[in-house]
Amino acid sequence: MVKMSPFWCFLTLAFLFGVITDCSELNGVGIYELKRGDISVKLTNYGATVLSLILPDKNGKLDDVVLGFQTLEEYTNDTVYFGAIVGRVANRIGDAQFTLNGTLYKLVANEGKNMLHGGLKGFSDVVWTVQSHREDSHITFTYNSYDGEQGFPGNLSVMVTYMFIGTNKLAIKMEAEALNKATPVNLAHHTYWNLRGHNSGDILSHNLQLFASGITPVDKNLIPTGKIVPVKGTPYDFLESHQIGSMINELPSGYDINYVLDKSSPKHFRKAAVLQDSVSGRKLELWTNKPGLQFYTSNMLKNVKGKDGAVYKKYAAVCLETQGFPDSVNHPNFPSQIINPGEKYLHAMVYRFTAD
Ligand SMILES: *[C@@H]1O[C@H](CO)[C@@H](O)[C@H](O)[C@H]1NC(C)=O
Ligand SMILES: *[C@@H]1O[C@H](CO)[C@@H](O)[C@H](O)[C@H]1NC(C)=O
Ligand SMILES: *[C@@H]1O[C@H](CO)[C@@H](O)[C@H](O)[C@H]1NC(C)=O
Repeated sequence: MVKMSPFWCFLTLAFLFGVITDCSELNGVGIYELKRGDISVKLTNYGATVLSLILPDKNGKLDDVVLGFQTLEEYTNDTVYFGAIVGRVANRIGDAQFTLNGTLYKLVANEGKNMLHGGLKGFSDVVWTVQSHREDSHITFTYNSYDGEQGFPGNLSVMVTYMFIGTNKLAIKMEAEALNKATPVNLAHHTYWNLRGHNSGDILSHNLQLFASGITPVDKNLIPTGKIVPVKGTPYDFLESHQIGSMINELPSGYDINYVLDKSSPKHFRKAAVLQDSVSGRKLELWTNKPGLQFYTSNMLKNVKGKDGAVYKKYAAVCLETQGFPDSVNHPNFPSQIINPGEKYLHAMVYRFTAD
């Protein structure tokens, strides 16, 4: 697809969504599709975002299984990160600051005094370049983050590729290279899953298994205390598959916590999660090379207007955000997220979709 001028942007939006809209923040923004067999994905280069993901159920019926907005414009005003790539540092950084090699870096706070998902205008809120796109195989987005962007040090070149593997796997490869200064990097893919269909209600009866024996508990502002505690025998225990809703009422407000993934063989690529909906029969398995997974049950969704007239409420979806641990820059006992100049960052995820 070609880069769109505002004129084409306007026409396309008007055509696709039947709305009249001002495209000022959407210059150069397009919608791109990937399709293999019955699986199809729509994406935009605004935030390198997944807009829709259509999967067959056990009877071959197709449904869109990710939450999203009706218009691109709503993504520019988004506070929930539907489908986006978040960074430069996903998750929270306490007090929106950190010290690296003796220098204090003050970041843009956007959740009280903390930074969430890269600040007020993180990677989910910038226009990426489409470097390569082949509808039946992949799309690659690139972004050049500048020294000082949202307070982070150094230029960072970033590349994200969504690609099919075989007949039923979708991989996401997130890469970055620090060009001139050491910087923390922690990218995450923030899709909201509802395997029964994005407009089907809550996910409390989805079954979940998380290959993680520990979590990093947080304080009242959702900043890790620095401890790693075992999940065994607590409502956080998903070592064996069971319904997400079975113990959710024992928590103050649903799940929003980082799991410490168990090491498995091969060491650097581990199975992280299995999510399953018995009604549609759809199942998602997830592998990653990263040590953590933020499990979030969309606790903060409050009547968000979505696609196709949907209204998303609390617990409408599940986020399984593989990544490094939150606030790592302020916890030396957590795996480091510092990338030195000339070093490369790589975060790989593979989703495998089946239905029976
Ligand atoms: C943007 O968000 C504000 C506050 O959440 C809302 O009032 C406004 O209608 C939104 N605009 C669009 C275009 O969605
Ligand atoms: C860093 O980026 C700025 C502009 O964004 C550019 O002028 C500068 O040459 C870059 N430096 C390096 C080392 O890439
Ligand atoms: C810290 O400084 C040392 C010595 O100058 C350098 O070798 C190292 O790469 C720096 N590390 C970071 C994370 O900036």
